[in-house]
Amino acid sequence: MILGTLIQERINMRDLIFYQETYKQFHLRNDFISYIFMISHDGKLLHLYYGPTLPEGDYRHLVEMKHRPMTTYRQEGDLLYSLEHLQQEFPEYGATDFRHPALELSFENGSRLTDFIYKDHVILKGKPRLEGLPATYVENEDECQTLQVNLIDSVSGVEVSIQYSIFRDFPVITRSHLINNQGSRPLSIEGVTSLSLDLPDRNYEMIQLSGAWARERHIHSTLLRQGIQSIESTRGISSHLHNPFIALKRPETTENQGEVIGLSLIYSGNFLLQAEVDTFDVTRLQVGINPFQFCWKLDPGASFTSPEAVLVYSRNGLNDMSQTFHRLYRTRLARGEWRDKERPILLNNWEATYFDFDQEKLLRIAQNAKEVGVELFVLDDGWFGKRTNDRTGLGDWVANRERFPDTIGALSEKIHDMGLKFGLWFEPEMVNKDSDLYRTHPDWILEVAGHSPRHGRNQFVLDFSREEVVDAIYEQMARVIEETKLDYIKWDMNRPLTDVFSKSLAPEQQGEVFHRYVLGLYHLYDRLTTAFPSILFESCASGGGRFDPGLLYYAPQTWTSDDTDAVERLKIQYGTSLVYPLSTMGAHVSIVPNHQTNRITPLTTRGNVAYFGVFGYELDLAELTQAEKEIVKEQIDFYKKERSLIHQGNFYRLRSPFDSNQVVWSVVSQNRSRVILAQYKLLNEVNRAYDRVYLQGLKADALYEVDGKQYSGAELMLAGFSLSDASCGQPLNQEKLSRDFDSHIWVFEEVK
Ligand code: DGJ
Repeated sequence: MILGTLIQERINMRDLIFYQETYKQFHLRNDFISYIFMISHDGKLLHLYYGPTLPEGDYRHLVEMKHRPMTTYRQEGDLLYSLEHLQQEFPEYGATDFRHPALELSFENGSRLTDFIYKDHVILKGKPRLEGLPATYVENEDECQTLQVNLIDSVSGVEVSIQYSIFRDFPVITRSHLINNQGSRPLSIEGVTSLSLDLPDRNYEMIQLSGAWARERHIHSTLLRQGIQSIESTRGISSHLHNPFIALKRPETTENQGEVIGLSLIYSGNFLLQAEVDTFDVTRLQVGINPFQFCWKLDPGASFTSPEAVLVYSRNGLNDMSQTFHRLYRTRLARGEWRDKERPILLNNWEATYFDFDQEKLLRIAQNAKEVGVELFVLDDGWFGKRTNDRTGLGDWVANRERFPDTIGALSEKIHDMGLKFGLWFEPEMVNKDSDLYRTHPDWILEVAGHSPRHGRNQFVLDFSREEVVDAIYEQMARVIEETKLDYIKWDMNRPLTDVFSKSLAPEQQGEVFHRYVLGLYHLYDRLTTAFPSILFESCASGGGRFDPGLLYYAPQTWTSDDTDAVERLKIQYGTSLVYPLSTMGAHVSIVPNHQTNRITPLTTRGNVAYFGVFGYELDLAELTQAEKEIVKEQIDFYKKERSLIHQGNFYRLRSPFDSNQVVWSVVSQNRSRVILAQYKLLNEVNRAYDRVYLQGLKADALYEVDGKQYSGAELMLAGFSLSDASCGQPLNQEKLSRDFDSHIWVFEEVK
């Protein structure tokens, strides 16, 4: 900012959004960040700055208009003003920019060109809801302010409202775009972003969370270069392949220092997230619904709302960015009775029985679980219809009478009588051809006439863009919920979408099916969570295929991965923690050899990994020895004592499984008086070097006690805490032999 241009106008310091009419400049500002843009002389929104808080002032000089060859200009006679060279808030094609637009429309006359110009704006207290879509929220108006900037394309009459919200207590800005057809002719939306942000350089590494089924959300990083680097989903779900998140960090940024921008999309369907580096090293960051196979017809008077994008800024490294996401998503995205409540320790029968169970077996598993302190028994796939294998039954949400001759209500009563909560598995979006639902409504699946629909795991996708389909599934689920007085639902989804065609939509609306499906899914979640607010929902899609912020709005926890191997889970949970809080990650102890990797890891390590999530078991306790059952009891006691701290504390990633044979992480309570430190070794190393870990987030001048010894916070953070282990090689004390996959947990408590 140039000295002497300080604004003299009176500013209400409680405000978070300032508009200076004199320069036509918007400044969104809190204690952490500033986001500044202006209206150009011809009504375009030019981006000026995004980063740490700047004082109020005139920043128009950040727009650099220079003559450059081989481009096009907005006005005849002018050789300076080309949008190709400027950073913008809402770029479009056809107005002298050649990069990817924020919105692409097509009109009846074949034109795809628009020229959106500032119309007016309004600043609101709080944060309006997004119609039919999950979004972050506030509990009182003072937490946030919202700026709606309205643009108009005078030729078509289309209006765009860009909605920016800035939180007072978070370095967070959210954005979404509302498209309103105020013209007299229908048009099509061919592509719409939720956020488009131009950054002045390209000196970033792009971090993405990518992988596959049972290998979700591994951390990958690439240095940006000229051109487009992107991640996307084309599967109708956010997917195992890529999570709707990226971070742009400076090459020198580490976990604990340096600049990073995190971008996450609150959406569960096809998304596209891209960083486009132009020829002048400007980075255009964009996120939204994937334009792949997308086309939305907008009649006169109709409007379309994009999902919400969440932008997090940090100057203190990746861990600080993650802690912001954690706090925001835990307290201002997750909702309902279970948001802040202690989550029950569950036992799920899937890996214990698969489809091979009857009432007696389940009751025995539940009784054993109760005896060690489990609080919730979850009956997974197979309890309904004729579901004795995965070729039959989906769509018939009525208990199997052969398995439950006394009704599922009676089973639930018995479980409740044991003092356990009762949960059931559903896969509401799917149907098997061998089901009463399919036999009655064969036309309810997604398919196009003339092609045979493709199956995934022998199942077909119900057309959730149709209200009557969603209603019918709701009715079935509600009946079971009422009959069983259900406490918990695991909502699964086990195949991607293909044959994306709805028999109920007009030909020109088929490009809407992917998104309408997601809206139908949200609608069903909304109805169920509203009608049954005390049910705890856990979302799932073959493990973590739909671990996204969209579903966290309805279900505060997600089954993180079908891979329950403790070693594999280190990478999966570590990667997931870049965005998602521990309170969202379902994490269970399972049997060994592990069913996914055939690996044998110690029971203690399986517990030590699963603690850092929403803890549970996925096994039949009858298969454990008495000594192992004692360990399970201890694990359950530990988790009951520490779960509030684990879910509400600050998580620190101290050593990464992606570049080390050791993984170390910790959780520090909000008041910093209690710390849980966990260390996991992969392979044993002989005659290992000395090793210290430097704790984070403690009170420097407090004394902490662990294993009967006291250390100052300063020492633990600066001199470090010893993780040295010389016991592999020629140990003197045979009892302390160390092995592959060993792990250790320490609890540090402040000495008052
Ligand atoms: C996939 C889930 O991820 C598993 O946990 C289990 O519920 C199966 N589906 C059941 O079919």
